[in-house]
Amino acid sequence: MEQYVIKGGTPLSGSVDIGGAKNAALGLLAAAIMTDEDVTIDNLPNVNDVNVLLGAIEDIGATVKRIDEHTVRINGSTIDSLSVDYDYIKKIRASYYLLGALLGKYKKAEVALPGGCAIGARPIDLHLKGFRALGANVDTKYGLVSAEAEALYGSHIYMDKVSVGATINVLMAAALAEGKTIIENAAKEPHVVDVANFLNSMGANIRGAGTDVIRVVGVERLHGTTYSVIPDQIEAGTFMCAAAATHGNVLIRNVIPKHLEATSAKLADAGCIIQEYDDALRVIASDVELRRTTVTTLPYPGFPTDMQPQMTVVLGLANGVSTVTESIFENRFKYVNELARMGGQIQVESNIAIITGTDKYTGARVAAPDLRAGAALVIAGLAASDGVTIVDDIHFIQRGYEAFEEKLRGIGANIERVSGEHEIQKFILKVS
Ligand code: EPZ
Repeated sequence: MEQYVIKGGTPLSGSVDIGGAKNAALGLLAAAIMTDEDVTIDNLPNVNDVNVLLGAIEDIGATVKRIDEHTVRINGSTIDSLSVDYDYIKKIRASYYLLGALLGKYKKAEVALPGGCAIGARPIDLHLKGFRALGANVDTKYGLVSAEAEALYGSHIYMDKVSVGATINVLMAAALAEGKTIIENAAKEPHVVDVANFLNSMGANIRGAGTDVIRVVGVERLHGTTYSVIPDQIEAGTFMCAAAATHGNVLIRNVIPKHLEATSAKLADAGCIIQEYDDALRVIASDVELRRTTVTTLPYPGFPTDMQPQMTVVLGLANGVSTVTESIFENRFKYVNELARMGGQIQVESNIAIITGTDKYTGARVAAPDLRAGAALVIAGLAASDGVTIVDDIHFIQRGYEAFEEKLRGIGANIERVSGEHEIQKFILKVS
């Protein structure tokens, strides 16, 4: 197993380039199989989740050609199976996007039922409700979801909850249904818009993505396209929080500032100076006394739940008492116990974290409980001016962050990826 080892206390400075959005890429890759023509996607993040989904797409017979580290060409004409192996959904839940894509294109699909995960039960009832509304027979037994239809017909679908996954999955199926579909209470995340734009570049007819109401007029078939994934606002937000927590001054490049408005607003509330450019943001926290604020996670354009752990780490160093309310997932504060071992003073009451700012974190050995909490613990280690931090289970972090330690070193962090006790001790000797 590998670990990150970190000697914190250095204010981060310099500039960092942000990659393509993992959560947009996963939807785009699934949608890419909906045509029998070549689809080329670039600015793909080279992260484990993307590579696992590419494996699932190849496994059902699609042709996948890696053009370079961040570009892939997919051709769905060679698909010879409509059943996605359980192994893939076990590794990444987003394999369930192949349900919507295969059902839309072949009117038949079978994918293993995703289980819950560290942050919550994460049911997919809204996905299935949408498929049924489009006329599919959907069965869930033996741990599988099987969906089948003679034909799919447009429908008026109201999402009981705002769901990114359900919006994207239903959008894909509706794109090739007969007639008009309206999705109400749709998710408005940038990656939902990216998938809609991608499908439209393939000949789909989708309007209103990014608003509460998405209107789809089904088409006969989709054609090939070339497309570039939008920048990852969560990777960008993570580096913004790292700059804030270390009192640094960092230019974060290749971003869409509008996608980061909620994160920028909250970091400004906490005392940081945020400078916006066309495709970059600078976070200045040098000589800044971080101050308390309150945060509630909400669907976009509210404060993103995927930024909740990183923001909590920043507020753990702010003067005063802050609160962070997690309104999307029921179990997304597990990392608080690990942060407490670094000196974090956080009390969780139901879905609210009450954070009493402390003057510093101290280095400790901690374990990443999930992707974003793992990144947050790295930020705490970067801020810890006393001691060395060792983060275990970094495979969670590598699911969604490409070259994480290299990018952090590029802005002055003293962090290495090691494998085992001997290398850990070597690092500790080197920095002590
Ligand atoms: C996507 O998950 C992201 N994953 C998550 O990012 C992100 O946290 C989440 O959206 C919210 O922004 C990908 O895009 C691959 P939801 P998703 O459906 O689609 C409930 C990360 O760190 N719900 O918007 O699964 C659900 O339980 C990951 O990159 C239902 O009840 O999230 C949750 O409480 C973590 N029934 C809420 O809705 C359903 O059918 C929002 O979930 C679907 C969802």
